[in-house]
Amino acid sequence: MAKPTIAGNRTGRKLGQRVKNKKMKASSRQWLQRHINDPYVQRAQLEGYRARAAFKLLEIDEKHSILKGARRIIDLGAAPGSWSQIAAKVTGSTDDDIRVAAIDFLEMTQLPGVKILQLDFLDPSAPAQLIEAVGGTPDLVISDMAAPTTGHHRTDHLRTMHLCEVAAQFAVEVLGEGGHFLAKTFQGGTERDLLNMLKRHFKQVVHVKPASSRAESVEMFLLAKGFKGRQAEPDVTEA
Ligand SMILES: C[S@@+](CC[C@H](N)C(=O)[O-])C[C@H]1O[C@@H](n2cnc3c(N)ncnc32)[C@H](O)[C@@H]1O
Repeated sequence: MAKPTIAGNRTGRKLGQRVKNKKMKASSRQWLQRHINDPYVQRAQLEGYRARAAFKLLEIDEKHSILKGARRIIDLGAAPGSWSQIAAKVTGSTDDDIRVAAIDFLEMTQLPGVKILQLDFLDPSAPAQLIEAVGGTPDLVISDMAAPTTGHHRTDHLRTMHLCEVAAQFAVEVLGEGGHFLAKTFQGGTERDLLNMLKRHFKQVVHVKPASSRAESVEMFLLAKGFKGRQAEPDVTEA
């Protein structure tokens, strides 16, 4: 896959545009203004990605090389689908030979080579359905899941951390040896128990903040590389 450069505005569209609609709420106007002036949004449109989030995955991959050689990928919290687009490309997934399974409770427009489940990942049937959909042992589990915001910061934070923990548990149950796990988390939010569990099961565990993740956002990514396999020591929580 040709690797796009990460920074800069190559769309030819002017940055620094202002939204003047006075009928809009100030917060909506600010959001829209930031969105249309965001070089990653413009690049996503230019390069045919469904979301600017594509560049977070590409940038993490540029530094940590997690996509190369991936044969089957599970994408958690996948809508609108830019990570799935990349996953389908790197695995060579086609509708005749599906190698990417994606889940989101939001509706997602079909993508060639991607089996989409419209389902809550926390639904007890989700793990089995994902494994069946991806058609074999995955070597990469990626999660960009963020809980819908309630406006209560602490609640939102805890819900997204819970999603990260459940995704990590799923990864250690399904990944093939040598596989990788990438998940959205929050700065200062990763629980020590979760980090310890991942360190027991993976050769390397790091936090990553790609440049395309907005500086003002507390979003970070947790990357666990080199799954040791299920013969690794039992998962005992430390006292
Ligand atoms: C930041 S977006 C993902 C963007 C995606 N990586 C892309 O490249 O297009 C986070 C997604 O997580 C989904 N999500 C949050 N909680 C979920 C859950 N429990 N089950 C399934 N999807 C969930 C949301 O609906 C949302 O679409």
